[in-house]
Amino acid sequence: MDRKALEALLNDMSLEEKVMQLVQIPGSEYEAGAEITGIERGQVKDSVKRLAGSTLGIWGSKRLKKIQEKYIMEHPHHIPLMFMLDVIHGHKTVLPCPLGQGATFDPDAVKKGAEMQAREAATDGVHATFSPMADLCRDARWGRIMESTGEDKLLNSRMASAMVEGYQGDDLKDSSHVAACVKHFAAYGAAEGGRDYNNTELSEHTLREYYLRAYGEAIKKNPVMVMTSFNSINGIPATGNIFLMKKILREEFGFKGVLISDWGAVGEMINHGFAEDQRDAAYKAMLAGVDIDMCSGCYSTCLEELVNTGVVSEKMLDEAVLRVLDMKNDLGLFEDPYRGLDIDAGSIITDESRMLARKAVAASLVLLENRGKTLPLRNEKNAFIGPYANTKRLQSSWAFSGNDENTVTVWEAAMEAYELEYIKVAVGCTMLDQDTVTARGIRHVDHWQEENSKLLEEAVQAAEWADTVILCLGEDSTQSGEATSKASIKLPEIQLKLLGEIKKTGKRIVTLVFTGRPLELNEVRELSDALMICWLPGTEGGHGVVDVLTGKVSPSGRLPVSFPYTVGQEPLHYDMYPTGRPKPENGPSAFTSRYLDCENGALYPFGYGLSYTSFEYTDLKLSAQSMSASETITASVTVRNTGDIKGCETVQLYIRDVTGSRVRPIRELAGFKKISLEPGMEEEVSFVINEEMLRFWTAEEKWESEAGKFRVWICNNSCSGQPLEFQLV
Ligand code: NOJ
Repeated sequence: MDRKALEALLNDMSLEEKVMQLVQIPGSEYEAGAEITGIERGQVKDSVKRLAGSTLGIWGSKRLKKIQEKYIMEHPHHIPLMFMLDVIHGHKTVLPCPLGQGATFDPDAVKKGAEMQAREAATDGVHATFSPMADLCRDARWGRIMESTGEDKLLNSRMASAMVEGYQGDDLKDSSHVAACVKHFAAYGAAEGGRDYNNTELSEHTLREYYLRAYGEAIKKNPVMVMTSFNSINGIPATGNIFLMKKILREEFGFKGVLISDWGAVGEMINHGFAEDQRDAAYKAMLAGVDIDMCSGCYSTCLEELVNTGVVSEKMLDEAVLRVLDMKNDLGLFEDPYRGLDIDAGSIITDESRMLARKAVAASLVLLENRGKTLPLRNEKNAFIGPYANTKRLQSSWAFSGNDENTVTVWEAAMEAYELEYIKVAVGCTMLDQDTVTARGIRHVDHWQEENSKLLEEAVQAAEWADTVILCLGEDSTQSGEATSKASIKLPEIQLKLLGEIKKTGKRIVTLVFTGRPLELNEVRELSDALMICWLPGTEGGHGVVDVLTGKVSPSGRLPVSFPYTVGQEPLHYDMYPTGRPKPENGPSAFTSRYLDCENGALYPFGYGLSYTSFEYTDLKLSAQSMSASETITASVTVRNTGDIKGCETVQLYIRDVTGSRVRPIRELAGFKKISLEPGMEEEVSFVINEEMLRFWTAEEKWESEAGKFRVWICNNSCSGQPLEFQLV
């Protein structure tokens, strides 16, 4: 449909029809048995159902076709309904959770993954996904850290941009793509105390410098949608925040697409104490420029009256409606309202998508310890023990359209890789302690004690038989994701007990940790010979993990987030500001900025991860000692594979602006490259440094660089390497 026709359509619509384009209701309203939770069915009036512009949470060609046919027939202007879904790390083929994808440090692979997700979802009738989540996360207590790609603004920017490109492709009309939605705008990851939905207090400079960066970069890739966040920022809920939505998002970032609220967030402004009632909430959201009200009912109940009484202008309404109609038009829905609804192709997992997921898993694993070269596993007797050894529940709580049935467990993959007489499996213990509170309620297991005694006995027997125990531990998938904040980030007690008992057998222990958040692993590392983070790896989890255990693939994942010694260090991130009393590396540290009972930094820092081979960095150099704003400097290093097997290395560039009108972090990631090297081979890796990379939000409230001294590291994690210096003149 051309622009004129679209505008003519808008002019012909009744006020009610227009308002309803801005209303999103749960898919469960259209169909009994739709798989969506969190809202009672049957709360939405029939008149709203008939006209609501979009729905969420349902998929499947046959189901959606039926709904679309009826909807279009009943709609006065036959405007198609839009179907949206949280395709976060996979639709049918589920990839590692986003934090695991962050660990790959490989935006190209992440883009391919997003293309695959889009293809599967689009051929299952989905028009838009609520992804990527570009929230910066520095707090392991916040369960949604699992849905982010980590603590660093550059890594997050690259990953969120890659996802937008992958989901949307070059042409949205192409029915193997879906619209992307950058969320949660803004600073949702900075919830105070790591408690979900909580307020955030951030200075404008911290907001701009860190929290807004990845959204801004992803928006340059033209995502169709942006979602507001639940939290308030400096006292103003994001969903009614004119500074954020109008000044930053629309004016500065130039976002032209559809702004959608998070679920119920318009109405939640009443709880926040920012809006008096539904009418006031609808008004304040409109004023901030929120186009679609996701499921709060405020727009459907109050917006028509607000326009009729002139409180909200019809012009403002029309602009919002036009953005929604534009989105439908860009998706080609006016020409083909049944796009993607012909065949149930989305439910089919192909060998190709499995292979892509398998590689993604292997690339996401982060090897933290490998004493005495415990890994790769030797051809000896290996016992796979623990609640993650043979579970199909390897997807996160945000992969609800993926089916556990399709998942390959670690044990299933081990049986493919090893002769059966050399391997054994034992569950070892329950996943959770008795009566653990999860997002879905309290987990109570009848006869928990007896069951665990039995499981432990079997596990100890298996360990005694084995030479090496592969202990598969972790958080349950319901312990990370939305509404899963935790004040303790240890493994469940029962799993730690299992580890302790297995240790008593004296066998080599490889501990695999499946998790959606950083955990306290000090105790675990002491008892393990090798330690590897496996995240929540998805459909091909077992294969990807076993590919690394066997040595078919050398681990190359790097931590996208700091793992603390203790939860008391949270929020923790590597790019800290210096203080006036820095703790000396050696020597007395009384009255310096430190903890009395813990290190300042992470147990395992951002960017850290081991390989089965070793790499040597030599000949670090800068092409010049100084540069002007119009010049560049090339920083380079030679990286050599000094081991005897092939491996991938993630070469990281960090920069520090030594003195500024505002203090600058002790170092910041400024670039990264992943290279693959055969044994004995070397490669020169270089990064071009330009003036733009040196800009920050100065004391004058401008994005500018300031002349002076800069330090540069090229190294293998955020705490390693020796710097060189140059001057910006
Ligand atoms: C709430 C979550 O915060 C958001 O991330 C998600 O996209 C929406 N619900 C829709 O399910």
